[in-house]
Amino acid sequence: MTESSQLANLHGLVILSFLTKALGAETGTTDNLKEIVIGRCYNYVTLVNPNSRYDCEEIWTEFQQAVLRRTSCNVAVRDYQRMFHTTPQALPCDRLLFWSKTHELVHSYSAVTRHFWTLEDTLVGYMFNDLIWCGQDDRDSGFNFSACPVWSTCVNHPVYSLWKQASKNFAASACGNITVLLNGSIQNAFSRQSMFGSVELDSLNPRMVNHVNIKVVANLEGPFVESCSQGSILDLIETLRSRGFHWTCTDSDVTLRILQCIQNPRQFSCQTCSSSLLHGQ
Ligand SMILES: *[C@@H]1O[C@H](CO)[C@@H](O)[C@H](O)[C@H]1NC(C)=O
Ligand SMILES: *[C@@H]1O[C@H](CO)[C@@H](O)[C@H](O)[C@H]1NC(C)=O
Ligand SMILES: *[C@@H]1O[C@H](CO)[C@@H](O)[C@H](O)[C@H]1NC(C)=O
Repeated sequence: MTESSQLANLHGLVILSFLTKALGAETGTTDNLKEIVIGRCYNYVTLVNPNSRYDCEEIWTEFQQAVLRRTSCNVAVRDYQRMFHTTPQALPCDRLLFWSKTHELVHSYSAVTRHFWTLEDTLVGYMFNDLIWCGQDDRDSGFNFSACPVWSTCVNHPVYSLWKQASKNFAASACGNITVLLNGSIQNAFSRQSMFGSVELDSLNPRMVNHVNIKVVANLEGPFVESCSQGSILDLIETLRSRGFHWTCTDSDVTLRILQCIQNPRQFSCQTCSSSLLHGQ
């Protein structure tokens, strides 16, 4: 598999931007990592989610132990176990939003509806969003701020391993209805190599999840490659069916369409609902 196809297969703005940086000029651990991570943690427990009780210093200590005890390219999912023990989080039923290759839209969708929780709304997702980190092979010398390895060259990349476990926990705690936002303008909108297809889907519990509500959203200008009745989404539906999930699928969600039109009101397919507004201009 080429690097770029692995890239395309990942989900998450976080991971995408991490990779973009990692593949460009050599990028090391994010400057001020400790201050950012601890600061975000205090922000989360104080302002974002004031009822939560976490020990931010302890989380940082466990994080650091996980990353710095191993060589820079070999931090496995299980190495973060102690850190994840310090960040347990119960998530609200009916509200989890999963997504793959729709990062342009997903966070404005969840911001506007004020209903959904994405991984980036959980404590761990919030703390580590967009950050890069790796240790040095000389294990006593802290983080490597000058360069981190590209993840495809690693057995266990420190950034990837953390997101993998965070995604697993997120999916495993899903209850009630969940929503999945997929991109109808590309082939393999549902990919077994994506974080959703490889980690999250398998971690969903059919006894806890009532409905998997799939929303397929294509770019306004197309191309229109996949839909609820076409392409890889049929594989997803088949997988859900065989595991005993109830599901729905829509490729014409009105809220999503309106959001897309707000971002691009002059697009031809938006004219019907905005023509009276645009007329005055
Ligand atoms: C679908 O994926 C393409 C290619 O990555 C991207 O440019 C586009 O913004 C995505 N569309 C939506 C609706 O997320
Ligand atoms: C940082 O990582 C890069 C890439 O793995 C490596 O070449 C470099 O020697 C490391 N720096 C230190 C100080 O270990
Ligand atoms: C769950 O999803 C189903 C199917 O879309 C819908 O009929 C039901 O009202 C939803 N329930 C909640 C609590 O959102």
